Amino acid sequence: MAAKWVVAVVMVAMASAAMADMSEETKVKMVKGKKVCTRGWECSQWSIYCCNETISDYFQTYQFENLFSKRNSPVAHAVGFWDYQSFITAAALYQPLGFGTSGGKLMGQKEVAAFLGHVGSKTSCGHGVATGGPFAWGLCYKKEMSPSQSYCDDSFKYTYPCTPGVDYYGRGALPIYWNYNYGATGEALKVDLLNHPEYLEQNATLAFQAAIWRWMTPIKKGQPSAHQVFVGDWKPTKNDTLSNRVPGFGATMNILYGDFVCGKGEVDEMNNVISHYLYYLDLMGVGREQAGPHEVLSCAEQKAFNPSSTSGTASS
Ligand SMILES: *[C@@H]1O[C@H](CO)[C@@H](O)[C@H](O)[C@H]1NC(C)=O
Ligand SMILES: *[C@@H]1O[C@H](CO)[C@@H](O)[C@H](O)[C@H]1NC(C)=O
Ligand SMILES: *[C@@H]1O[C@H](CO)[C@@H](O)[C@H](O)[C@H]1NC(C)=O
Repeated sequence: MAAKWVVAVVMVAMASAAMADMSEETKVKMVKGKKVCTRGWECSQWSIYCCNETISDYFQTYQFENLFSKRNSPVAHAVGFWDYQSFITAAALYQPLGFGTSGGKLMGQKEVAAFLGHVGSKTSCGHGVATGGPFAWGLCYKKEMSPSQSYCDDSFKYTYPCTPGVDYYGRGALPIYWNYNYGATGEALKVDLLNHPEYLEQNATLAFQAAIWRWMTPIKKGQPSAHQVFVGDWKPTKNDTLSNRVPGFGATMNILYGDFVCGKGEVDEMNNVISHYLYYLDLMGVGREQAGPHEVLSCAEQKAFNPSSTSGTASS
């Protein structure tokens, strides 16, 4: 009797050790023959994606600190604002949709590096001679410092009218400019950004949420999102192929910046974003060789999904 009891205790101990290995408690069920899961607060909706590792499983506080090591230095412009917890809290809203949870751990790491590569390059105050190197200065800003205008486009007065006295200069992790972009983002997030664009410089979780929403959402119906082209959840049409648009990091720049950055050859604006991505891959322990060849990383020869001459509503 006693011996049996000992065996049972050992087995329970082993089972709970195995559970602990999977960090967050994953719950599994089958829906119409498909395995769906929830995985703690970070991936809390039943989803096929929540069966995979979540971001905090492979991207931890110390790595965030390494990537953005200069953000709280005295000369930075958003000291004390950005932190790991706000990133993970915002990411939790999109992990059940596949952000950082698509295609397995390596793809997740690469997607986080890619997304943060965009964020780092857009919020950097680094330059060639900066201490720590030019790529150590991501998340130095949370807003445009000396806006030259109020970014109010009156042609949107019936949909996204500018609020008197409010300026729509760049704010956030993937900075938002113009009343129509604040309006559309606020609508999607159910936050009144048209009347209160300043929320984005007051709330880092909201700033990350807006940026991840932009990453996960197509600019126009029928187009892929940056997330989709990156994780390979997109099949180029014949037209895309003729325009040199291929799945990968380059296409994410095409979606987010269009012809401000793409289709212009090897310009600095483009190579700076790529360099941040590669730098983060190294710091995350993935290694830049996992990024693939320059053809996929670049959008130098790609035609824009949304040419600025015809869209008038470029996102950045
Ligand atoms: C989960 O990860 C596995 C690899 O570990 C991958 O094959 C699978 O596609 C991922 N699930 C989803 C929904 O992306
Ligand atoms: C900051 O934004 C998050 C995400 O939208 C929201 O849940 C939270 O309540 C906000 N915090 C404050 C203090 O407004
Ligand atoms: C194909 O691309 C051209 C130019 O890039 C564009 O004008 C046209 O609308 C596209 N056609 C489709 C079906 O997307």
